[in-house]
Amino acid sequence: MTKRKLKLKKSAQKILLIILGIIVVIGIIFGFYMSRINELKSLGYSDVAAKSIVFKFKYSYVVNKGKNKTLNAAFESDNYNEKYLDNYADITYQKQDNLISNINKLIKKGYSDKEISLIISRGDDKSVSSFAKRDKVKYVEEFLNVSYAKLENYDRYVAYQEKEFDDAETTVLYVNMDFDKEDYVDPLVIDKFDDYVLVNKHRQLSSNYIPDDLVTIDEEYVKADGEIEIERNVAKAFYDMARDASKEGIELMVSSGYRSYKDQEEIMNTYLELYGQNYVDNYVAKPGFSEHQTAMSLDIASKSVSVFVESNEYSWMMDNAYKYGFILRYPKSKEDITGYKCEAWHYRYVGKDIAKYIKENNITYDEYYVMFLDD
Ligand code: DAL
Ligand code: ZN
Repeated sequence: MTKRKLKLKKSAQKILLIILGIIVVIGIIFGFYMSRINELKSLGYSDVAAKSIVFKFKYSYVVNKGKNKTLNAAFESDNYNEKYLDNYADITYQKQDNLISNINKLIKKGYSDKEISLIISRGDDKSVSSFAKRDKVKYVEEFLNVSYAKLENYDRYVAYQEKEFDDAETTVLYVNMDFDKEDYVDPLVIDKFDDYVLVNKHRQLSSNYIPDDLVTIDEEYVKADGEIEIERNVAKAFYDMARDASKEGIELMVSSGYRSYKDQEEIMNTYLELYGQNYVDNYVAKPGFSEHQTAMSLDIASKSVSVFVESNEYSWMMDNAYKYGFILRYPKSKEDITGYKCEAWHYRYVGKDIAKYIKENNITYDEYYVMFLDD
């Protein structure tokens, strides 16, 4: 072998060694990188977030914080801003498309992390996005600390409190019940129908809404001309209640149940002619605004006594109806809230748990709905 060839062979070996060395180093780096990504993933970070965390040299920071959904969203987002890392870690996560860009905007406006957590928790992506565009406002914590506050109602809370001087919780409750609007003015048209539907002077059913599971109440319980229909589960609960009541000599009857839009229109016009507008305003709902159209309400009667409040059936219902899932919907002490004068006979089926809560806490269904069911 010539010296030249030997030299060439040696330098080829060198190059090979260098290449091998590079491969080993790359392998080690890759292994290290993969182990960090896997560790982040096992902490709950997504693949995209984990890669971004490692590339941005924030591995230790994130591991230190542990699982954090807002950090995960920040590292997944194109809007990630390193300056706000501590804020992201501090702000409570919400599943919203523009979460990180909105958080950035709210930080820039000067809101604290606590305020931002409240803002994003009380609205959806749309309302948070428009709120984030506004100049900084006052009283964010005051109103939004109320668990059922709605970001979209923020201006109404401020206006209502300026006028009524109620505390923040009452203000939120009343505005969410639309007390800042006149009865029947600008009502919400209900588009979600379930057993919990709330109908009142601010929440309207469409004229063609007919509940789907109507049954006819057994004749023996009907105290009216013609048949009475009601929702199937309400009928079952009523029969249970009526059977138990009868064991105590209490004879419960039904004088009204489901009423169509048209039925309500006829009833309203009849009462209007008989007793005038004031009576109607206090006792009869306008068509579309009657709970009877939901088929979840019953007017209860006594078999033998014609004035219901004078009957044993009335007292028995006051004490026991809740055990069967029924609530007195328009009580005397709540006329300002329900918008109706007391109706001793009008019961709404809400199920046993809600009925018990309403009875024990002496609230109306309007309040319960706003506090726990409205979204
Ligand atoms: N009497 C009740 C309020 C109704 O008309 O639905
Ligand atoms: Zn009624």
